[in-house]
Amino acid sequence: MFPRDFAWGAATSAYQIEGGWQADGKGPSIWDTFCHEKGRVYADQNADMACDSYKLWEKDLECVKQLGLTHYRLSLSWARLLPDGTTQHVNDRGVQYYNKVINDLLACDVSPMVTLYHFDLPQTLQDQGGWKSPGIATLFDNYAKFCFQTFGDRVKLWITINEPYVCAKLGYEDGIHAPGLKEKGISAYVVGHNMLRAHAMAWHSYNCLYRAKQKGAVSLAINSDWFEPLNPGCREDIAATERALAFALGWFAWPVFVTGDYPGIMRSAIDAESKKLGYNGASRLPCFSKDDPAILGTADFFALNYYTSRKVKPGGGCKQVLAMSSDRDLEEVIDPSWPICGVSWLAVGPHGLRNLLKYIKDTFRNPAVYITENGFCQVGPVHIEDVQRCEFYKSTILEVDRAIQEDGVDVRGYFAWSLMDNFEWADGFSVRFGLFHVDFSDAALRRTVYRSGKEYAKIISKHKTGKWKCQQLAKKQHS
Ligand code: GAL
Repeated sequence: MFPRDFAWGAATSAYQIEGGWQADGKGPSIWDTFCHEKGRVYADQNADMACDSYKLWEKDLECVKQLGLTHYRLSLSWARLLPDGTTQHVNDRGVQYYNKVINDLLACDVSPMVTLYHFDLPQTLQDQGGWKSPGIATLFDNYAKFCFQTFGDRVKLWITINEPYVCAKLGYEDGIHAPGLKEKGISAYVVGHNMLRAHAMAWHSYNCLYRAKQKGAVSLAINSDWFEPLNPGCREDIAATERALAFALGWFAWPVFVTGDYPGIMRSAIDAESKKLGYNGASRLPCFSKDDPAILGTADFFALNYYTSRKVKPGGGCKQVLAMSSDRDLEEVIDPSWPICGVSWLAVGPHGLRNLLKYIKDTFRNPAVYITENGFCQVGPVHIEDVQRCEFYKSTILEVDRAIQEDGVDVRGYFAWSLMDNFEWADGFSVRFGLFHVDFSDAALRRTVYRSGKEYAKIISKHKTGKWKCQQLAKKQHS
């Protein structure tokens, strides 16, 4: 019972699949630099080659077609298009590559959803301060305008920035993602702030310069776990849950969808902690100024990346160190009934997706929602017959259905992460999220469908409606 024209998709990102890290004039990105340093990534792996999609795109397209996707979410490599990050120098071969990808998709009636930034900042911009520098917003806006201008005649769904939370926290607080900084309690908030400013500038550019002609929609992909109180009857646990949601989903969704500013709970927690630690000066959570672009209303839909759930209780008070974890002051517990899939952080909780969707409806004024990422991984020996992942997709999609039918959430699409096994950031190739297996030991990087890929294809074919259904029927009759 999915709505007409529901988007059935799968997602990837440029650095994780493309390879060709120096091919045809591409500039280096912060992930190239990060992976080339020893000790950063599992077994010192890198994505210099990855799935080699820069060369093997047509193989990826076969996978897209085999699943029967209506939509494919990909990201553009900023440094492939603009090697030094600025529009002063455009790499035509990068433009040609993405033109081919987009045109090939459209020729197969697959709509592209395009992410402008999925973690891979051009290294030259990092050298000038990267996301900590306020000037990055204008540089991003120029890049975004270039992409709207170049591809927007064909791309109608845009994501400006993927997971600002992950970029800020893992890149600048925990140091486990590029650029690998551990500037605890300070930089992540600055980075998040500049990402919001950059996103808003790009949205306004689209709105003023391109929307009337191109008629597309622009948002940013916000990731969040679902949080629930460890003890639902305990007031402190309920308050801790509100804090957890404010520091994850709310950090970026509250400014864009509700007030134009950060959640009050977040600012007061950070400021109270600063006071306790004797940290003087302005709030560590930056304030938007009148010179900043208006943040409120800068999303045409809600793009949600959801993977896992946690139960929470208060963390036990001041830790005497400046850190986001002290500001959040939470203890996270995994319910023993939620199976851990492969990586320790991924406790599987399809119910959490339904709850989060309902929460988004109630808190963020019933927006149209695309689930832009959701998935399940394998670690260790590969099972092409990945029965567990089949169950995962079935139960998750059932929860999405319930969110639509029973809770009235306006869900417009679902994108599985990922089309195929790829470079899973700090975990390298050890963690496999694909619907297609990629044999990284084979020179041809052979793609083989997992059982879960076949299952997903079945689900899609059962539920496809609108123009895609007509095409499917026509094809059947023809054959
Ligand atoms: C997301 C990220 C993806 C993918 C996924 C699985 O945070 O956007 O690139 O790696 O997690 O861990």
